[in-house]
Amino acid sequence: MKKLAVLIGAVFALVLMAPQAGATGAEGPCIGCHAEETPGIVKQWRESKHSKLGVKCYVCHKAKKDDPAGREHNGYFITPLVTPYYCQSCHAREVKEFKESLHDEAGFFSTSALTVTSGEKITKDHITLGQTRNYKANFSRESAEAGCLHCHGTEIKVANDGALINWPNNGIGRFNPDGSVGSCSACHTRHTFSIAQARKPETCGQCHLGPDHPQIEIYEESKHGNLYAANGEKWNWDAPAGQWGPDDIGAPTCVTCHMSGFGGAVKTTHNVSARLKWELEPAFSWPTEKKYLNGKAKYPIEKTIARRYEKINGIPAGTLAAVKTGLPNPFAMAKKFSPDIYKRYVGPGKWWSVGTTRADAFGGDATRSPGAKREDMVTVCVQCHAPSWVNGELAKAEQVVQVYNAVALGIKKKYYDPIKKEKLDADIKFNGKSGPDTLWHEIWHHEGRRWRMGAFMQGPDYEHWLGSYEITVDGNRMANWLDELRVRKATKKKLGLK
Ligand code: HEC
Ligand code: HEC
Ligand code: HEC
Ligand code: HEC
Ligand code: HEC
Ligand code: HEC
Ligand code: HEC
Ligand code: HEC
Repeated sequence: MKKLAVLIGAVFALVLMAPQAGATGAEGPCIGCHAEETPGIVKQWRESKHSKLGVKCYVCHKAKKDDPAGREHNGYFITPLVTPYYCQSCHAREVKEFKESLHDEAGFFSTSALTVTSGEKITKDHITLGQTRNYKANFSRESAEAGCLHCHGTEIKVANDGALINWPNNGIGRFNPDGSVGSCSACHTRHTFSIAQARKPETCGQCHLGPDHPQIEIYEESKHGNLYAANGEKWNWDAPAGQWGPDDIGAPTCVTCHMSGFGGAVKTTHNVSARLKWELEPAFSWPTEKKYLNGKAKYPIEKTIARRYEKINGIPAGTLAAVKTGLPNPFAMAKKFSPDIYKRYVGPGKWWSVGTTRADAFGGDATRSPGAKREDMVTVCVQCHAPSWVNGELAKAEQVVQVYNAVALGIKKKYYDPIKKEKLDADIKFNGKSGPDTLWHEIWHHEGRRWRMGAFMQGPDYEHWLGSYEITVDGNRMANWLDELRVRKATKKKLGLK
């Protein structure tokens, strides 16, 4: 209640500070025109909690003096971009937590990567956005704007005439001209800004879907998703954050497990990385510990599992002992390939005040031990399940991670690495990548993620038929590539072909 009073105080202070506000009616100076011009926006705003608490159009859209996106608009100085810096004046905690999550790094991940257009030379423009170094399938900046960056976030610039470049975009890690990063309306669809909507799995499923991160599909096939589909309409979606708990819903949504305080059992957080014990995205998985994140240490595969897969694959004992850890450091990549972005968003007083390692973007909750992160997740589950049920389920998934690591490493060492070492695929590349390259990408980036994430989120079809089974098929295809390419090479040599 105290928090609400402080917030409302802040709102009134801001409203009073706005010179023209109030002079044009209780709903503020923008409504007169905008009820005609954009009735949809006005309707949505009227339905919002903001409208009831005096957070009018010009409270959010009044541009800060030094905002490059600020412009004169019918006598008012407005910005069309209401960035996290604007929300921060009333919602500092949410902005801080969001900033410490991997969501806020999402723009970096696509930005720091190279865009290589088929057959084109790399120019600075290509480098800015849209392509990972190891997967050149997006072709161009133009295509990236409508694809990758729609989810990850683009870099919005202001042209000399004030027009916004690369806008609209609500990507979750968007680079804003005012120096902030992120877009709160990636989840809080304007202009209702309803928490009820943000809590529903479809909100997350806008980006978390498809062959490489099918969390929404996994959820839909899980018992939890099943209950949501059957009964969700009757659940209470409006309880305030922190209070929203087992009294309100009959099964968890994405938000319950990854963000909500669930009736006060754990800390509510906007840091979606805060409850993740594992890195389940990369080619190999390891616990989210600093030494692994920075690639300083290799993560050991369980000995019995490693031995089993060495035997099955006929590879020498000890080959599958440990996996390489570490992810690219987005700051270093940006410094090299997008120095303008680096300069604007990283450094003392900037959005990221330190930017040496990948871990610098994380803070607060996400830097705790993997065990502490797991404990928060389990605390949510045990509001509805017995601890033995939950621990049994998560232990199964952790075994899957071990098996996945061993299998993927086996395929890589036995078939993919020799293809690369013997340069067998040098002549069969399209857009810089060969068939074996894309196959390896599909193995870890698509099938491997489905296998691991299906196990953690109760999606058995993704765990098996779309995960481990597909990897079996593709492991065989990789074996064929190696055999076929060696034969081709020998035949060409014999025939004197180059
Ligand atoms: C005299 C009528 C009028 C008033 C008053 C008015 N607007 Fe607008 N607004 C428009 C029209 C017409 C458009 C669409 C054309 C344009 O961009 O100018 C628009 C567009 C906008 C846009 C999109 C801007 C862009 O660059 O594309 C925003 C944001 C906006 N208005 C916010 C506001 C806010 C906030 C206020 C109150 C401070 C306000 N407007 C007051 C008429 C008005
Ligand atoms: C809680 C803050 C907030 C309030 C209050 C608010 N807006 Fe917005 N508005 C936003 C955000 C966030 C965006 C998304 C723009 C972006 O960052 O890309 C936006 C975008 C817009 C746009 C451009 C996008 C589009 O769909 O055309 C217009 C126009 C606009 N607002 C008008 C209004 C009007 C009119 C009101 C009052 C009825 C209003 N806004 C109240 C936060 C707010
Ligand atoms: C001038 C202060 C102010 C600004 C600026 C502001 N808000 Fe709010 N917001 C409030 C108040 C007051 C509440 C109601 C108290 C609460 O629920 O915390 C609220 C509530 C919310 C809620 C909860 C709504 C619900 O259904 O319970 C969301 C989500 C939200 N704001 C998002 C945003 C976002 C995103 C921005 C920036 C685009 C923003 N707000 C800008 C003051 C503000
Ligand atoms: C606009 C797109 C978008 C929306 C909406 C979205 N996400 Fe994400 N999410 C991403 C992207 C992109 C990443 C990868 C970020 C990166 O690697 O930097 C991500 C990563 C994550 C991660 C992994 C974090 C980590 O540390 O590995 C979790 C968990 C997550 N999101 C949960 C959610 C939940 C829950 C919701 C809904 C409430 C949601 N996301 C909504 C785009 C989105
Ligand atoms: C439909 C939305 C969407 C599109 C389109 C998309 N991504 Fe992603 N991306 C995500 C989500 C969601 C995640 C997080 C996956 C997870 O945690 O399982 C992610 C993860 C990533 C990561 C991993 C980051 C890390 O922490 O390891 C990279 C790199 C990446 N995406 C780059 C790209 C590039 C480059 C493109 C275009 C070629 C692209 N993405 C297209 C949503 C998207
Ligand atoms: C990944 C999706 C996602 C993003 C991005 C996001 N939010 Fe939220 N937000 C939520 C969800 C879900 C809730 C409800 C949480 C709960 O039930 O505990 C929420 C709740 C809130 C609330 C209400 C909190 C309360 O105590 O009542 C505010 C305010 C808010 N968000 C502001 C923001 C701001 C500001 C940003 C941008 C920095 C932001 N959100 C970005 C999903 C998101
Ligand atoms: C029943 C709880 C639960 C629900 C519901 C749930 N998740 Fe998860 N999720 C988990 C667990 C547990 C993990 C693995 C955590 C770990 O790393 O220890 C996970 C992992 C993830 C990851 C992988 C992060 C990484 O390492 O890259 C993403 C992304 C994610 N979830 C997003 C979602 C989205 C989006 C939804 C809804 C469509 C969702 N989750 C629904 C419990 C849940
Ligand atoms: C809001 C309550 C709630 C939360 C929180 C919750 N669950 Fe569940 N879960 C249920 C309900 C209800 C069922 C259906 C039970 C049945 O089969 O009758 C269920 C089913 C399951 C099942 C059985 C799936 C199947 O296909 O039979 C597993 C496993 C499970 N949950 C694990 C988890 C884990 C792990 C977490 C935390 C990461 C979690 N749950 C969080 C309510 C919850």
